[in-house]
Amino acid sequence: MPELKNDRLLKALCRQPVDITPVWLMRQAGRYLPEYLETRAKARDFMTLCQTPQLACEVTLQPLERFNLDAAILFSDILTIPDAMGLGLEFRENEGPVFRKPVRTRQVIESLPVLSPEKDLTYVMDAVRLIRQELNGRVPLIGFSGSPWTLATYMIEGRSSKDFRHIKAIMFNEPQSLHHLLNLLAESVTGYLNAQIDAGVQAVQIFDTWGGVLAPDDYKHFSLQYMKQILTHLKREKEGRTVPVILFTKNGGQWLEAIAETGTDAVGIDWTTDLHHARQRIGNTTALQGNLDPCVLYASDKAVCQGVQNVLDSFGHGTGHVFNLGHGIHPHINPEKVRVFVDAVHDLSEQYH
Ligand code: CP3
Repeated sequence: MPELKNDRLLKALCRQPVDITPVWLMRQAGRYLPEYLETRAKARDFMTLCQTPQLACEVTLQPLERFNLDAAILFSDILTIPDAMGLGLEFRENEGPVFRKPVRTRQVIESLPVLSPEKDLTYVMDAVRLIRQELNGRVPLIGFSGSPWTLATYMIEGRSSKDFRHIKAIMFNEPQSLHHLLNLLAESVTGYLNAQIDAGVQAVQIFDTWGGVLAPDDYKHFSLQYMKQILTHLKREKEGRTVPVILFTKNGGQWLEAIAETGTDAVGIDWTTDLHHARQRIGNTTALQGNLDPCVLYASDKAVCQGVQNVLDSFGHGTGHVFNLGHGIHPHINPEKVRVFVDAVHDLSEQYH
């Protein structure tokens, strides 16, 4: 493998000194890029795009051709795991993901298979190998998975939800059934992320998009516990380097200490949490990633630069910060704003290092 030319991201995640603050965006490959829409049209639908390594590689690299990003993120989706378990995933226009066979009963939960990621999700590992080859050491490649809780919400609700009524009914009525599912998912996610690491990803992020809809005790028992279980079984080193882990619980700001105690290398912070306080609370042990409000990218260039400056100021001097949005970029953002954003992070951050 060629040597990594830009290792700022890996260094910042391990809280080692860097020259400027590294930056990438959640959902950096996606619908706000016209070239993404073109490739998706060529693939016909989103899942075919994910399942065709050449095309997944193409869209992974698209944002890097345009912007001075410090990382690539594998193009795929968190719902590949439940799809491989046989739930029948469809992405419908204007509806988002829908499972033809949602999971609602203990009997169904108990019949779900434990995945063999290299066999059941070969297309993901093939994409990783191809992307690493095409990146040729330019920047590191981030792999990812959904958290067990977040995957379970989609599997039980059958689609995106606002009230999470089905999964919460199971959680309160028969918690053991839900624990059974979460255990199975934790095992599958562990294998999935380790297979991605074997195939070549150099850092991993666990997206706990819906952990923040839980009450504090429920968060600890039904989401955090399973992420911790995954962390203790992940390969944390490869090619002589640490493979850092980022845990991102959206709306998880009140639980930062507990999240850091899992032993994660970095914690993703959304924009509702003060980065300065987050650093005071867990910055001695853990790197932080975030946390500009994605909607700042709808504003003027001047406001984008001011937003970047505010986040840099809030974190303060020194390493241990990876710049990102507080959540994924919206599809209606003008790509030119992303250029302003990425360049501002690099230009304005030098004085903090
Ligand atoms: O960040 C990247 O560029 C890598 C690719 C990536 C996608 N999904 C591609 C995608 C990643 C990391 C994800 C993660 C993901 N998928 C999450 C967790 C992250 C988060 O935003 O909190 C979730 C909850 C999903 C499930 C999912 N996938 C939903 C709810 C939807 C539909 C709504 C939406 O945001 O578009 C998707 C579809 C999806 N995943 C798209 C992309 C580029 C859009 C599909 C399209 O082209 O229409």
